[in-house]
Amino acid sequence: MKLAILSRNGKLYSTRRLVEAARAAGHSVRVLDPLRCYMRIDDHGFAMRYKGRAIDGYGAVIPRIGASITRYGCAVLRQFELMGSRTPNPAAAIARARDKLGCHQLLAAHGIGLPATVFGDNPDDTADLLALLGPPPHVVKLNEGTQGAGVMLTEKLSASRGVVEALRGLYANFLVQEFVAEAEGADLRCFVVGDEVVAAMQRQAPAGDFRSNLHRGGTAVAIDTTPEERDVAVRAARAVGLGIAGVDLIRSRRGPLVLEVNASPGLEGIEDATGVDIAAKIIENAVSGLDHAGSGQRRRRATRRRINLRSGSDLTKV
Ligand SMILES: Nc1ncnc2c1ncn2[C@@H]1O[C@H](COP(=O)(O)OP(=O)(O)OP(=O)(O)O)[C@@H](O)[C@H]1O
Ligand SMILES: [Mg+2]
Repeated sequence: MKLAILSRNGKLYSTRRLVEAARAAGHSVRVLDPLRCYMRIDDHGFAMRYKGRAIDGYGAVIPRIGASITRYGCAVLRQFELMGSRTPNPAAAIARARDKLGCHQLLAAHGIGLPATVFGDNPDDTADLLALLGPPPHVVKLNEGTQGAGVMLTEKLSASRGVVEALRGLYANFLVQEFVAEAEGADLRCFVVGDEVVAAMQRQAPAGDFRSNLHRGGTAVAIDTTPEERDVAVRAARAVGLGIAGVDLIRSRRGPLVLEVNASPGLEGIEDATGVDIAAKIIENAVSGLDHAGSGQRRRRATRRRINLRSGSDLTKV
């Protein structure tokens, strides 16, 4: 089967591991920089080119699209989908995962636990917005924040108000959550592939911090998850529409609460901590249900033959 990995950098650990695993499983695989893919669309079909050559015949595509290129990356991935390639993480699901507020709303609508969360637009509503959440401590999070930067704990109402006002002054987007103290600075990264949590690690915040991000000095160890945690993680990924996801949970008195559903979870930390060959499981999932030639590939070839007879173009009709 011909596979593509959409990634800006073939040297990144996760990309390299996916290439290795694909080759080990006997597939031909190519890393394509999504920013070098360009597309033609019209009402007769779809075409895509890469550095002057047609891109065609990929049975499956595994996207590794960073947050900074979500829009263009998703357009490229959508083009692959329209041309008949299969992907475990469709463009629409990645876009959904990248919208933090939308994602929280979606999870809640599916009955998946998450820390109580408030957000609002107008500064005049700050006092009532915080009242809606309940008493402090609160966690204030910048929507654009990542790796723990932009996540703040406010112990008093005056501090919550002050931080919210300061962020509004900077025109930043943020949300405010209840602080789940009993998590004790730990979160669980559950790596979901298909209907299964294939690996899980616990990240523990360094002394004096409540944020467990590894970039902030957190440490990671493999952990046994409970059936309830695995069920929540798989349901969260499914709610967003992702076949491959890193679902972050914290343990609370009322059960597992989802903090985030990551559409492009890194492999390095978790393969290290757990020893699981996650890359192999991703490849297996990406090609499952496709015959060796790739059903999409064969369908497209047949369609292309028809189109070529007619117009000689390399457009793929769907
Ligand atoms: N409501 C909360 N209660 C207790 N601890 C929290 C809460 N929210 C976040 N944390 C802790 O802070 C860490 C960072 O928060 P979060 O994961 O939401 O932000 P991020 O890592 O910066 O962003 P993202 O995961 O979206 O890239 C979490 O891993 C968790 O340890
Ligand atoms: Mg996080």
